[in-house]
Amino acid sequence: MQKSTKGIVLAGGSGTRLHPMTAVFSKQLQPVYDKPMIYYPLSTLMMAGIKDVLIISTPHDAPAFQTLLGDGSRFGISLTYEVQEQPRGIAEAFILGQTFISNSQVVLILGDNLFYGKLDFLRNAIRANTGATIFGYAVTDPQRYGVVEVDDSGRVISIEEKPLQPKSTLAIPGLYIYDSDVCSIASSLKPSARGELEVTAIHNAYLKMDKLNIVKIGRGIAWLDTGTPESLLDASTFIHAIEKRQGLKIACLEEVALRTGLLTREQYVKSIATLPISSYRAYCESLLNQ
Ligand code: DAU
Repeated sequence: MQKSTKGIVLAGGSGTRLHPMTAVFSKQLQPVYDKPMIYYPLSTLMMAGIKDVLIISTPHDAPAFQTLLGDGSRFGISLTYEVQEQPRGIAEAFILGQTFISNSQVVLILGDNLFYGKLDFLRNAIRANTGATIFGYAVTDPQRYGVVEVDDSGRVISIEEKPLQPKSTLAIPGLYIYDSDVCSIASSLKPSARGELEVTAIHNAYLKMDKLNIVKIGRGIAWLDTGTPESLLDASTFIHAIEKRQGLKIACLEEVALRTGLLTREQYVKSIATLPISSYRAYCESLLNQ
């Protein structure tokens, strides 16, 4: 049975770790090489086949995202916006997004998480999901992330948020799949000691119900971090190196829409005609001659 799947990009937060870069506009509007950061997570959702996306941001930044991306029709998708008044935690996305999610399955991606590589792992997980699915990605510094401990049969044993002594090296990327029960689970959460509705509490609730799945992402996928000025520069350098080598852009939303059939060729031509004269537009035009 085909499940309807919607997407949420969570692009709020205080962004203080990147100050003064984020003093005026949020982290997810900052450039990663040649595009605003949010292009990357949005392209991930589009490439996973998701056409209906809610963008959640701060009262200050939501209008800027709207100016940047509009209603999504330029990319053959539907974009709607919701404001998170305060950074009250990642899990609040499911309270703010309750009407949007309705009885669909939902994929949440954090607006500062970048993935590069073949996204079959995501498409397969969306298809297979019952309950919730999280991903595990081996890193050298798991204490900076949510960490998942898995037994020999691949079942989740524990989930911890930024543990001082991580029980494994598997970090949990900011990309999660849930059934529509996530909204009632989020509504029943109490704020943690740091005053947030924790995404880890959602995962522990699914774990308790024996409905938490974990999929390990292998080294064929790059999961890039943008949490510090240095990692942001590294992400830009990474994208630049690949784009320069291949002559192809990563996360060009118009191209993704064309290649995945979200836009017909005619719609694509109309869409890119609205772009200002730029190397980005020239790239989009060059695709028509291939
Ligand atoms: O990047 C993956 C990690 O993201 C996971 O491994 C962690 O389990 C998860 O908690 C999260 O950790 P961070 O330290 O990156 O969380 P942070 O509070 O910085 O928020 C992540 C993004 O979500 C950030 O871009 C801002 C946005 N956000 C966050 C909060 C708390 C919101 O939009 N609203 C919020 O209320």
